[in-house]
Amino acid sequence: MKTYKIAVLPGDGIGPEVTRQSVKILKELAKKYKINFKFQQGLIGAAAIKKTGKPLPEETLKLCLSADAILFGAIGDPEFDKNPKLKVRPEQGLLALRKALNLYANIRPVKTYPSLYEKSPLKKEIVSGVDFVVVRELTGGIYFGQPRGRSEDGATAFDTCSYSREEIERVAKVAFELALERNKKVTVVDKANVLATSRLWREVILEFSADYKSVDLEFMYVDNAAMQIIRNPKQFDVILTENMFGDILTDEASVLTGSLGMLASASIGELGNKTRGLFEPIHGSYPQAAGKNIANPSGSILSAAEMLKFLGESQLAEKIEKALDKTLEQGTATQDINEENYSTCSEFAERVIRNLI
Ligand code: IPM
Ligand code: MG
Repeated sequence: MKTYKIAVLPGDGIGPEVTRQSVKILKELAKKYKINFKFQQGLIGAAAIKKTGKPLPEETLKLCLSADAILFGAIGDPEFDKNPKLKVRPEQGLLALRKALNLYANIRPVKTYPSLYEKSPLKKEIVSGVDFVVVRELTGGIYFGQPRGRSEDGATAFDTCSYSREEIERVAKVAFELALERNKKVTVVDKANVLATSRLWREVILEFSADYKSVDLEFMYVDNAAMQIIRNPKQFDVILTENMFGDILTDEASVLTGSLGMLASASIGELGNKTRGLFEPIHGSYPQAAGKNIANPSGSILSAAEMLKFLGESQLAEKIEKALDKTLEQGTATQDINEENYSTCSEFAERVIRNLI
C-alpha cells in the first residue's frame, strides 16, 4: 500500500481548526481506500515565533523537505500587525518556506458553485458557470526583490520588483500546460504600460508561446483585469500573473464564489530533482473566528483534494470534490455563507465525510 508522508503546518488563527478537518477527511479516505498517510505536524508563523522565536524553525523546514507534500493552514496574527516596527513577523515563515522549497507557481482555481450563486454580492448571471484558474508567480517580484528596506535616515523606504527570464519562463510553462488541459486560453496580466518587469514578461511570453500555437494568448493590464474579473469573469480560462498582482486579484476573485473561505491553492516547484507541493486555502488566519469552530473549512478541504491530485491520486481527489459539492447542495453552510442557519466548521466536515462514496 502506498504511504505518503504529509507535513501538516496548521499555523495561526483558524489555520489549526480548518486543517484538522482536512486531515480528518484524508484519514477517512485512508480507512476506505488503499492509501496511507503519515501526518507530521510542524510549527510556522506566529505559533512558531511564540514557541521558538522563529517564524520558520529549522525543524519545520526539515520536515517539509522530507515530506511528499505539505498541507498548510493559515498565517498571521493581529498582535504582530499592531507594531509595524517588528523585525520578526509571522508571514516571513510562509515566504521563507515558499522560497526554500522553490515553490514558484501558485495555482488558484476560481470556480463558482450553483448552490452558492445567491451568496455572491454579484448578480447570478455574472457568477454562474465561472471557472478559471489564476497562476501566480510566487517566489519573485516585489515580494523578494533586493534591495529593500530604509534609507540611512529612515525617512525613505524602498522595495524592488525584479524578474529574470528564467523565472518568467518556468511559471509560464505551468500556465500554458494547464491551458492545454482546459480551454486553451492564457491571459497574461501585467502593467506593461508602466513597469519594466512587465515588459520583460511580455517579451519572454511572446517568445515562449511560439511552442503553444493552439493556446490563445492575450495580455491585459492589471487595472483593467481587476475590473473584468467582476464585470465578465467568464471570459477567463487561465490568468498568468506576477506575485503581487496575483495576490490581490485572487482575493478579489474569491468574491465570485460567495466566500473567501471557498478557495484552495496549490504551490508547486522543483528542488533537488523532486517536485514540491504545498497546499493551502487562500484565506488568511481570520483571528476573530479562531477557536470558535465557525470557520469555513472548504478552502482547506479543496486544498487537500489538490494535494491528492499532485500525489497522483486524482480519483480520491474527485471523491472529496464530489462530497463537498453534495454537502453544499444539501444546503449545509458555515457562518460566512449562511448567517442565519449555519453548521460549525467540524459539523460541515462531518457532512462531507458522510457524503464520501
Ligand atoms: C497569500 C497571502 C500571503 C501572500 C501572505 C500571508 C504573506 O496573502 O498567500 O495570498 O501575500 O502571499
Ligand atoms: Mg493573499
